[in-house]
Amino acid sequence: MNITSAQFVMSNSDIKKCPTDNKAEYAFIGRSNVGKSSLINMLTNHKGLAKISSKPGKTQLVNHFLINKEWYLVDLPGYGFAKVAKNTKQRFSKLIFSYIESRTTLINLFVLVDCRHEPQDKDTDFMEWLGVNGIPFSIVFTKADKLSKQKLSDNLKAYETELLNTWEEIPPYFVSSASTGQGKDEILNFIEETNKTLSQ
Ligand code: GTP
Ligand code: MG
Repeated sequence: MNITSAQFVMSNSDIKKCPTDNKAEYAFIGRSNVGKSSLINMLTNHKGLAKISSKPGKTQLVNHFLINKEWYLVDLPGYGFAKVAKNTKQRFSKLIFSYIESRTTLINLFVLVDCRHEPQDKDTDFMEWLGVNGIPFSIVFTKADKLSKQKLSDNLKAYETELLNTWEEIPPYFVSSASTGQGKDEILNFIEETNKTLSQ
């Protein structure tokens, strides 16, 4: 799929004020600093579209970007970073959960995980919660440029093994790098195919 236009629409701290035009949306979620905003910029070929920072806690609101005038990509604040103040953490997690539970136009959540790290309860518990609540999601292993092929493959295998403790089947997953563009075609194809099923 070609992205021909990507426009910032709005930032919200109140889910009720998010767009009401019923377009399909795909949101990015995961720990602070995992690379959600960078991935949105990589997918849209638009360096400054979503704000990024080397300091965790950069994205603080729900941000809607209209893609090809047809569907939305949504950038969310990160969860679970120890250095973010406790009340900020609570505010982010309230916002995230109210977003997930109330957005009927949310088609798929991309749960981002840093490919360098071992499976963390925070992420796997969150995925379990999504499963229990029937929220469709897929996983994106980010920052693949930071690992050798062998180490990446070992880490993916370890993650799969961990997921199979809970899941009968591994959820769909992608491997990405905002630096090299790895994963771009796969993620955009996935969105394109999903959009097609919606219009049938
Ligand atoms: P919050 O908004 O704070 O929740 O973070 P975020 O998940 O949006 O992360 P962001 O995109 O702001 O990126 C965090 C840091 O990781 C930045 O310094 C990025 O340049 C870096 N980064 C993100 N993705 C990649 C990647 O694929 N490869 C490398 N090498 N660095 C990355
Ligand atoms: Mg961000």
